[in-house]
Amino acid sequence: MKTYGIIGKTCLFFGLTVLLSCQGDRDTLQMRYPGYFPEPEYTFGNNVLTSEGFDLGKKLFYDPILSKDSTVSCASCHAQEHAFADHGTALSVGVGGKMGSRNSPAIVNAAWQTSFMWDGGINHIEIMSFAPLTNEVEMAEDMNHIIQKLSRNDLYRSSFQAVFGKPKIESQQVFYALTQYMAMLISDDSKYDRVKQGKSAYNEEESAGYSLFIQKCATCHPEPLFTDYSFRNTGIGSKSNDTGRYKITLDDRDVYKFKVPSLRNVALTYPYMHDGSIRNLRSVLDYYSEGIRESDLLDPSLYKNGRPGIFLTEDEKDKLLSFLNTLTDFTFTTNPLFAE
Ligand code: HEC
Ligand code: HEC
Repeated sequence: MKTYGIIGKTCLFFGLTVLLSCQGDRDTLQMRYPGYFPEPEYTFGNNVLTSEGFDLGKKLFYDPILSKDSTVSCASCHAQEHAFADHGTALSVGVGGKMGSRNSPAIVNAAWQTSFMWDGGINHIEIMSFAPLTNEVEMAEDMNHIIQKLSRNDLYRSSFQAVFGKPKIESQQVFYALTQYMAMLISDDSKYDRVKQGKSAYNEEESAGYSLFIQKCATCHPEPLFTDYSFRNTGIGSKSNDTGRYKITLDDRDVYKFKVPSLRNVALTYPYMHDGSIRNLRSVLDYYSEGIRESDLLDPSLYKNGRPGIFLTEDEKDKLLSFLNTLTDFTFTTNPLFAE
């Protein structure tokens, strides 16, 4: 709730319900986030953030009309109760039952992201939606047809007109609206955040887990976003023969590097890794501790005392798991503002 505020207009801000009942002229929205977050990467610029624009983006996000046969929406693979990752499946199913080769990432704090996709193949949130809309194994549609379908729908025609003030719907408006929704998916009310804000305290195990996390994991998953958005080789290789960052840079040193994922809400985004090959968090820790093998391109920070891997005792794993669970933000996953 505190993530939103209204500037301009006369409506008072008491919470989400008031926000949504504020109809009429466009209401400018402002992004709100805690003081310990860095400045976001994306700040809307020409894409003026309004409550109508956000609502339109949300409607598009949940509408299968954007896919070729009207069966698949963005939300089919990005579910709020899983922090906008898929519903516990390793690989997502798109139009016609086709399957991709990568696990659907969560969409969390996307406005802070410096690149998108596991290989960072997309560098700007405003062009992000083009990929899933047109990808054969996702929504398999083409932009012209999407615009035709939306233009035939009275409700969409009037919403686009109200938000963008132009007589015709254009592709860029679809991207802008979806961006308004995605960039506002801010998760900042987990127990971790409440501890950070002095409103709650860790128990003994969580506290020990936090210390271990800072020592052993934070090089790549630094707080408060729990990723540095870099590309790293964790030695996991790829079940789907996916070379990761190499696909984009064609630099041999980038083979099997994948974007470091945020760990916010990680308890809800199973299964794990770019190919969904690890089923639960305990097994991820087992992998870091005992599963990493020597290899040329393994990230240097995954060597401890000259040996590959981050060795953890079973007791340390328990503590780390307790800490990782404090990153779950139920305010985020149940926020009616984000729901269909
Ligand atoms: C069929 C399942 C599916 C559908 C439908 C789908 N996505 Fe995705 N999404 C994925 C997968 C899989 C990836 C990872 C792709 C990759 O790394 O190459 C992804 C990646 C993303 C990312 C990047 C996240 C990150 O951390 O890098 C965003 C944002 C996103 N999708 C938004 C959307 C939007 C918006 C729509 C609707 C227009 C949509 N997705 C539709 C499966 C889907
Ligand atoms: C060298 C950098 C690095 C270090 C150190 C590191 N990670 Fe990761 N982590 C990554 C990368 C890169 C991925 C994605 C790998 C992939 O998909 O193939 C990842 C994935 C994960 C995932 C899966 C998340 C998801 O959404 O799929 C979890 C959980 C995780 N790491 C937890 C940890 C913990 C706990 C530690 C400390 C014990 C740690 N990591 C240390 C780079 C690192």
